[in-house]
Amino acid sequence: MEKRADIGVFGGTGLYSFLDDVEEIEMETPYGKPSDSIAIAEVDGKSVAFIPRHGKDHRYPPHRIPYRANIYAMKQLGVKYIIAPTASGSLKAEIGPSDFCIPDQLIDRTWGREDTFFNGPEVKHITFADPYDEDLRRLAVKVCIENGLKVHDGGVMVVIQGPRFSTRAESRWFSSIGGTVINMTQYPECVLAREMDIPYVNISIITDYDAGLEGHPEIKPVSHEEVLKVFEENNERIKKVLYDMIRKIEV
Ligand code: ADE
Repeated sequence: MEKRADIGVFGGTGLYSFLDDVEEIEMETPYGKPSDSIAIAEVDGKSVAFIPRHGKDHRYPPHRIPYRANIYAMKQLGVKYIIAPTASGSLKAEIGPSDFCIPDQLIDRTWGREDTFFNGPEVKHITFADPYDEDLRRLAVKVCIENGLKVHDGGVMVVIQGPRFSTRAESRWFSSIGGTVINMTQYPECVLAREMDIPYVNISIITDYDAGLEGHPEIKPVSHEEVLKVFEENNERIKKVLYDMIRKIEV
């Protein structure tokens, strides 16, 4: 029987597995293979598909992730909702490490990534004024609050090309143009989900203050090790939020 899934979850840095009693499936798409085999499991009577976007061994840097294959595979499985947790940096003093942020806007600073399924002859211009699904966002905020987490409702996600982190000048600029949080993978994952008509939400777990914090020389600029450490410290809380959201989504 063909495999189906109701809800899709993308794991980022530090979240390479998430479900128990999984069936691992290999998929092939017109855009190549997804980042890894896809883990499918039942949670509360719903079928959930999980893809670690960097691959289980973190072999894909942000600019080389097969985003189109990943989203296409979710669509092929019949996924109706996507939850996308990420480690993100903070661009605001009031948002600190281990806080959660559920952004409602996005600024794309990436380049050269395949960011559409409509390269012709079929052409489509999607509306993207509000990149994140508002119902899923509301649910994510509610679940974070229920779990006693410090959560920021809304914010502008700045997506940089990577794989390097930002300079101090870039970071100051991103903050001055309205950026709230910063990450390397939200684009084009978010827009490709929209092109496939799959409601999508990001759950940002703040791991750092990006290039530092004005007036706080003791706060060092972000390093990959620090991102991993803070994410790992929050791993159980992130999984709990994901499970609670899955339980509450009606499919
Ligand atoms: N992921 C986690 N922290 C980040 C930062 N400061 N910049 C870009 N991506 C990140």
